[in-house]
Amino acid sequence: MININTEHLRQFVSDAELQQMSGEVLAAKSVLLSGNGKGNDFLGWVNLPEELDPAIVTSIKNDVARLAPKIKLFVVIGIGGSYLGARAVIEALQSEFAAVMPSSHPYVVYAGHTLSEDYYHQLLSLLDGNDYAVAVISKSGTTTEPAVAFRIVKAHLEAKYGKDEAAKRIIAITDARRGALHDIAVQERYPMYVIPDNVGGRFSVLTPVGLLPIAMAGYDIDALLQGARDMRQLCIANDNLTENPALFYAAIRNILYRKGKKVEMLVNFLPNLKYISEWWKQLYGESEGKEHKGILPHSLSFTTDLHSMGQYVQDGERLMFETFISVDKPAASVSIPSDEQNLDGINYLLGKSLNEINHNAELGTMIAHKGGGVPVLKIGVPKIDEYVLGQLIYFFEFACGISGYTLGVNPFDQPGVEAYKKNMFILLGKPGYEGKELV
Ligand code: PA5
Repeated sequence: MININTEHLRQFVSDAELQQMSGEVLAAKSVLLSGNGKGNDFLGWVNLPEELDPAIVTSIKNDVARLAPKIKLFVVIGIGGSYLGARAVIEALQSEFAAVMPSSHPYVVYAGHTLSEDYYHQLLSLLDGNDYAVAVISKSGTTTEPAVAFRIVKAHLEAKYGKDEAAKRIIAITDARRGALHDIAVQERYPMYVIPDNVGGRFSVLTPVGLLPIAMAGYDIDALLQGARDMRQLCIANDNLTENPALFYAAIRNILYRKGKKVEMLVNFLPNLKYISEWWKQLYGESEGKEHKGILPHSLSFTTDLHSMGQYVQDGERLMFETFISVDKPAASVSIPSDEQNLDGINYLLGKSLNEINHNAELGTMIAHKGGGVPVLKIGVPKIDEYVLGQLIYFFEFACGISGYTLGVNPFDQPGVEAYKKNMFILLGKPGYEGKELV
């Protein structure tokens, strides 16, 4: 199980503060579980690991078996919650060099998360020379970025394979009844998966939104779901702050926020966790950043960013705390070769694994940042695999719900996302927006 270590935090948070906050997070937990809070029509994610229909998992596996042997690339079209969870899991598990390594599984590429013209030009060039299939994912079915990407990719796919074969290579994941994507999928007879009404985008990674791309990339979605199930059990059954990591994390965040720590930096020491941070940033930023409140979620990859942001963290304005994701064991080992001449002066490292060196960098950083006035919370993770990622996902989701309710906001809506869309539609002359004022 993942665990929480407070060794580098305790001087910033007293037992009395924790005691007082424990009442608040327990109250928030009971609001979440009773479904009496704001946004209670979006709580489907709470029981999802238990209640997901096994037939959906079987169908996903059948789609993988049907498509994977005939494709090199799987294009996942989606934005925000409709792509970040899948990307987080896939990039955590795959080789950093997967794009240029031989593989028996399709390589996942992404679209619909940008409007960059160059990006689509480059993507189409890639698709020209490779067999591929597509998942188009949008809960509303009306989001502009994935709609634009899908129109471009669909035209390419139909030109390459013909309309009938293209229709077999497109899988739509969307609302059961509404939206343009739903209507297109029904008309074109695309295989379809439904995003449940009561699961919001950023909480949807354990629905087909995340599960289909993850399975297509060759990863074990049963283990991912089992990890989430086990973490759910712990999060729901245990009211003891020191045993329930989600309660503890939510408590610490709110204590530090009230003491002026307005920025949380999620820190990893493994570059393949970058998209876990991106997913986490959306989860917390979109859930808590409202009513002019909320911790600003930020992320860093160490030791890389110690050579760019390390100075600020150590010595800049004291507005942040750090949450380290500390992974115990690497998937493989690499040793440092000996060199009699020792011109680079690193022979003192001989006999140590790179993982040991990395962990010493991590410990040294925690102590230094604590000394510089930055509270550091450590989330210990035994290793990176599907089971542990399932735990981590559910842990962060459950803690997010509690933390948002403790903050006093509705963690399950995102009204602020609409403002840019409205302006964009006015500027682009979308029908229905004529004469409207920019906001
Ligand atoms: O978490 C959310 O609700 C958002 O990030 C959405 O996932 C994102 O805006 C994409 O929306 P849709 O899936 O409707 O295209």
